[in-house]
Amino acid sequence: MNLPEIRLVKNWLKEGYQRNPGPWVKHSKYVANAAKIIASKIESLDGNQAYIMGLIHDIGRVAGIAEERHTIDGYNFLKKKGYEKLARICITHCFPKKNIEANIGIWDCSENELEFIETFLENCEYNDYDRLIQLCDCISMEDKYVLIEKRLIDVVLRYNLKNRVPLGIPLLEKWQKYLEIKDYFSNMIGESIYNLLPNVIENTFGKIKSD
Ligand SMILES: [Fe+2]
Repeated sequence: MNLPEIRLVKNWLKEGYQRNPGPWVKHSKYVANAAKIIASKIESLDGNQAYIMGLIHDIGRVAGIAEERHTIDGYNFLKKKGYEKLARICITHCFPKKNIEANIGIWDCSENELEFIETFLENCEYNDYDRLIQLCDCISMEDKYVLIEKRLIDVVLRYNLKNRVPLGIPLLEKWQKYLEIKDYFSNMIGESIYNLLPNVIENTFGKIKSD
């Protein structure tokens, strides 16, 4: 796969932060580090590729403040730069289940773009890089790694759920999928993925008193 140099990707993130300052840049770096650490334990995955995919997954935010539109914006950004194959990660990272109705954010893109995303997902066969970035996105806050369940609740509570279509079963199915992906990688490496990442227990539960 044609991959941009890390230096170039970091420049895009720097420019992106200037245009749209927010926690997404730091979060992307955490996702990248986790992806590299987990990939390094799996022979079939390349740590450098996983790292770049983690850095780039939310690059659509370079286009400004957006909700689910950041997926298609990221895809178009990378395609325009000549990285069409890499661009898929900007869409797939948001869909452990291929169901646009499970997403909490508003679909603030055009009808045509939404149709494109649906068709893209239908035709896309997920590989372990897609699954790895879905997982790492879901354990990485902007400054730490946490238990998936904590991050899932955090995302829901961060959005103002008033006036949103009730999510119900599609959201629960999405959550279930995240947990399955976590077990998939834990089984593959022979230990919990949380063992590989720093301070997950403290970050999730706060300081625990020890005797
Ligand atoms: Fe993300």
